[in-house]
Amino acid sequence: MKPAKTLALSMLALGLLVAEPALADSASLSVINWWTAGSEAKAMNVLVQMMKAEGVNIKNDAIAGGGGAQARTILKTRLMEGEIPGAAQIKGVEIQQWGKTGLLANVDAAAKAGDWDKNIPAEIDNYMKYRGNYVAAPMDLHRLNWLWYNRAVLAKAGITAPPQSWKELLADLAKVKAKGIIPMAGGGNGWMIATEFDPIALETGGPAWYREVFVKLDPQAINSPTMVKALERLRQIEAYTPKSLAGRTWNYDTGLVAHGQAAFQIMGDWANGQFEFLGVTPGGPKVGCVAFPGTAKEFIYNVDSFIFFRQHNPAQEAAVVKLAETMTSPKFQLLFNKYKGSIPDLMNVSLKGYNPCQQKSRVQFLEASKDQGLVPSFSQNMSTYGPTTGAFIDSLDQFYTSNESPQAAAAAMAKRVEVAKSQD
Ligand code: BGC
Repeated sequence: MKPAKTLALSMLALGLLVAEPALADSASLSVINWWTAGSEAKAMNVLVQMMKAEGVNIKNDAIAGGGGAQARTILKTRLMEGEIPGAAQIKGVEIQQWGKTGLLANVDAAAKAGDWDKNIPAEIDNYMKYRGNYVAAPMDLHRLNWLWYNRAVLAKAGITAPPQSWKELLADLAKVKAKGIIPMAGGGNGWMIATEFDPIALETGGPAWYREVFVKLDPQAINSPTMVKALERLRQIEAYTPKSLAGRTWNYDTGLVAHGQAAFQIMGDWANGQFEFLGVTPGGPKVGCVAFPGTAKEFIYNVDSFIFFRQHNPAQEAAVVKLAETMTSPKFQLLFNKYKGSIPDLMNVSLKGYNPCQQKSRVQFLEASKDQGLVPSFSQNMSTYGPTTGAFIDSLDQFYTSNESPQAAAAAMAKRVEVAKSQD
């Protein structure tokens, strides 16, 4: 397996290398993202329309590739060519790296207008600031640790309730297989494998161990019996996932579950939005959602946020602040998140009209926040970024697509992460 393609360039160097901005069409701001699935495009259109009503034209610059690796590479290339976007989808700790480039716009005015520090939970709000100034805005709050299932398929296999434990999950997968139906849809690429591993790791080691591994990057926690156990579990899931799904996208897999061609999918709740887009409401009669077995009290979070770039004229500077303000307005967050499958970052917005899985998501977020049960998703770049996230994804991809033993994979993962840390 080749290592994940990262543009080997420190953020600081990027700031120095960026070419003089070409005089772009001042009436239009590019917003770089990787939302190309039907539900994602529909949600993004809410932003385009609301900004239009404000007199600002947004170019929805969607670059294919779940997880956004391609979008991030294209962003850097464009900057080096002097093409400055209005905003780009960048999440978690990576926002700090972008802050160092000196390219980001200050959107404190939007944060003040929307009272972000009061209305947005601190876990989310803190990511948006670089050296005390707001340089990014959050649009949604996704939960990773979900298991989606097709009710008719489960019934056909004699399963009366969704699995609540690892043991039950394995038993159910075997029952579905015996009926000749795909038990688990997934495994399409490294990012998807890592996304599936995310809740498996949490289930195996619990939140404290998860933080040791994916936040503190402790080599002893990475190369540990707990990691070996988690990898063994990933292997068990792999055995129930057809090889023919390699190369397929997450939304293709969601379609399989929606249409009764597969029983389960492990995926963040952007799948929730895609089920809705396909006309099946999760929590309704056809498709169900349940917390990934063993993680009912926990919440692996993924917040889609956008960084803003300094512009070359006051009109565009103002448009960027307006964009940040709109992204965090109750009206926008309510509509956008309904389509996206996630929940608003604004905890005081009512979830009227949202589906049961979204309602459950907010309850779980609030409970997990009180209970040390919130963890930042490693696979979605919330706890690490660039080479470090790449080191985890490459290790999991290598393991999943070969006969490597869990012991060898855990050791290789710890080594790769050490190398990545030294590149930071
Ligand atoms: C993003 C989601 C998106 C998913 C699939 C994740 O990394 O945070 O917003 O829906 O990728 O494209």
